[in-house]
Amino acid sequence: MSSLLAPSVTSRETATAVRPTSPRLPAGLFSDRLLSLGSENAFRIGPQIRELELAGHKVIKCNIGEPDFPLAKHIVDEIKRQLDLDATHYCDPQGVLPLRESIARTVSARRGLTITPDRVVVFPGGKPPIGLAQQAYCNPGDEIIYPSPGFPIYESFISFIDAKPVPLHLREEAGFSFGGAELERLITPRTRLIYLNFPSNPTGGVATRDQLAEIAEVIQRCAPANCRVYSDEIYEDILFDGNEHHSIASVPGMEERTLIVSGVSKSFAWTGGRVGWAVFPTAEEAAAFKNLNINYFSCIPAYNQMGAAVALESPLSVGEQARMRASFLERRDFMVAGLNAIPGISCRTPGGAFYLFPNISGFAENIGALAAYAEMPAALREKTSPATLVQMFLLWRYQVATMDRRSFGRIGSDGMHYLRFSIATAAADLKLGLERIRAASSDHEGFRQFIQEGAHLC
Ligand SMILES: Cc1ncc(COP(=O)(O)O)c(C=O)c1O
Repeated sequence: MSSLLAPSVTSRETATAVRPTSPRLPAGLFSDRLLSLGSENAFRIGPQIRELELAGHKVIKCNIGEPDFPLAKHIVDEIKRQLDLDATHYCDPQGVLPLRESIARTVSARRGLTITPDRVVVFPGGKPPIGLAQQAYCNPGDEIIYPSPGFPIYESFISFIDAKPVPLHLREEAGFSFGGAELERLITPRTRLIYLNFPSNPTGGVATRDQLAEIAEVIQRCAPANCRVYSDEIYEDILFDGNEHHSIASVPGMEERTLIVSGVSKSFAWTGGRVGWAVFPTAEEAAAFKNLNINYFSCIPAYNQMGAAVALESPLSVGEQARMRASFLERRDFMVAGLNAIPGISCRTPGGAFYLFPNISGFAENIGALAAYAEMPAALREKTSPATLVQMFLLWRYQVATMDRRSFGRIGSDGMHYLRFSIATAAADLKLGLERIRAASSDHEGFRQFIQEGAHLC
């Protein structure tokens, strides 16, 4: 198991970088910055899935975190109404006022805060503010702390701005959780950003109020005054077993140093709407991000923003969200039990989000993935892992798409044998997926041939 402390790495060594090379491109075409940029593999395996589908296979898609429910009718109706009103032109780059007012009201009410709309900025989804925050707050060499395993973009963007990645490794033995002590060891005078993500992708971890108070105490005591906390709360509505959503911004003294970030993608099954938001500690910071918006994309479609305001405040949304949660809960219980019944897999029960993050050490060993990896040349080992080999075997031989551990933070992930399953997929497909994984678990000969073929090893 890895240590909690970050291995010594520079930002250019994150090794998840996508290197677009082709004989058609002149040498030196792309900047070092672009070449160092990582990616989100859940999107990158899309073409492989399409290739399998075009060949006539039914692929079980447990790779991407996209709720499989249609957008609720009351939201669709509002978008249509806005289109009829011709809300199709440039609008406020900070976000249209009615939506910022809705966000200010709902975020305040849930977290016991008093937020004004001038502290809110709307973005095209919950993802863009991740990289924008790094651009806004960090100079080259500054340090950024983020959970690993964690949402890949926290790490993938850091090399782009030449900052220093400082992963906070979450260990299974500790329930993929952490407390103040683990964080304290990583904070230095150069720390500028600390990412938190509860409920968490990929582990489904949920923070308790006490845990957040402990983390907040460490931040207030140890972090420099110009360090911001980026609280990614995009799964705030997907909680099980009576868990409640807590935000670190609610801890006294933290609102003034925390960005609260969320959006419509997960809460309303509206990944294509591209509406997300951040609440900033000050109106001045919101204005700076508004200017980033102006530079990058001007504004977000007003008709979707108005739909998002209805999503946030319509009483009809409450029932829709409860139905989605009930469905996720059923699938979670079914999948956790099903995965635990497969030899070599052990899966914890997540308290939120819609992901499972099972330990597949036994599976990888039984099937021969650990041995196959150990025998690979060093250059290939750099690009893959035993969990990656299992991921690729499941995809190409059994048509079950999952994500490997490396996809959630490459640095310090060696020797960690996990896969992430998204359960935002129809129950019947999940059942079929489980049957296929069970069959794969004893297919030693198939795995041997897959490795020998060598077509999809990373
Ligand atoms: C933790 C986390 N943050 C942000 C995002 C991005 O969400 P969006 O699709 O709204 O950009 C995701 C999406 O998977 C996520 O898991």
